[in-house]
Amino acid sequence: MIILKLGGSVITRKEAEKPTINPENLARIAREISLSSYQQLIIVHGAGSFGHPFARKYGIGDKISDLKDLQHKMQGFSITQEHVRQLNLKVTEYLRKNGVNAVSLQPSSFIKTENKRIKGADLSIIKNYLDLNFTPVLYGDVVLDSDDSIKMAVLSGDQLIQYLALNLKPERVILATDVDGIYDKDPKKHKDAHLLEVVSSKDPLQIGEAETVDVTGGMGGKVFELLQLADEGIESEIINANRIDIIKNVLNGDKVKGTRIKGIKKELRK
Ligand code: ADP
Ligand code: IPE
Repeated sequence: MIILKLGGSVITRKEAEKPTINPENLARIAREISLSSYQQLIIVHGAGSFGHPFARKYGIGDKISDLKDLQHKMQGFSITQEHVRQLNLKVTEYLRKNGVNAVSLQPSSFIKTENKRIKGADLSIIKNYLDLNFTPVLYGDVVLDSDDSIKMAVLSGDQLIQYLALNLKPERVILATDVDGIYDKDPKKHKDAHLLEVVSSKDPLQIGEAETVDVTGGMGGKVFELLQLADEGIESEIINANRIDIIKNVLNGDKVKGTRIKGIKKELRK
């Protein structure tokens, strides 16, 4: 089993003022997935310009001050949920048209958080789809939160990846984004940034604040989820899906450029 995340930076125009897909990338990536060989594949995609601007505008996940604020946030929840669903429909459409039997699973319909972290979800339906060789597609979404002071939260695709991987124990976890991997500093701001081929929670990492509208922590949030996952024994890889054929090659098991997130043994942890 492989779990693959397609970052919002790859499948949408993350900087766009309105929700905008990146049709060239979506078509190419769907084609590359259809051309590669794997046994079971779960896809999780990010929200990009379909999620972050709305979640931020309505303060989803922030403390609720009064009834008026609750109503405002509920309106924003509906709006955000609708937009990320639209993006998900596009993603599954591109996959299906390229011969991948994608099935959409809406996180907000079966996952809740407690203080912004997933607290249990029934994953049996995912296993049932996988048994038939469907490709389940999940995505960053807004969800209900049991903490009464916030009631709603943003669930990133990266947290979903961690949760799915811990519970489904895939052979590989791959995150596709718009840079080659984790650098010693933000490669978009620093020309002299160096790609780190391997990182672990022992390494002092400098991850820049998310430049844009990202409400789930950008690369920092991704690395946080993946280091925790690695220390639980599941390694992952970050690759650049703007590079042609990289998704195909990585799914086929070929060596590609990127960063491997490695675990450290329990006894070595501080
Ligand atoms: P995605 O939408 O694909 O999930 P993000 O936009 O959340 O990805 O994160 C990717 C971005 O993180 C890159 O475009 C890059 O500019 C930024 N970034 C900041 N610091 C770093 C770093 N140290 N290494 C790599 N990327 C970084
Ligand atoms: C964000 O998901 C979900 C919402 C904003 C509703 P991600 O954090 O996984 O999205 P990207 O990949 O950064 O765009």
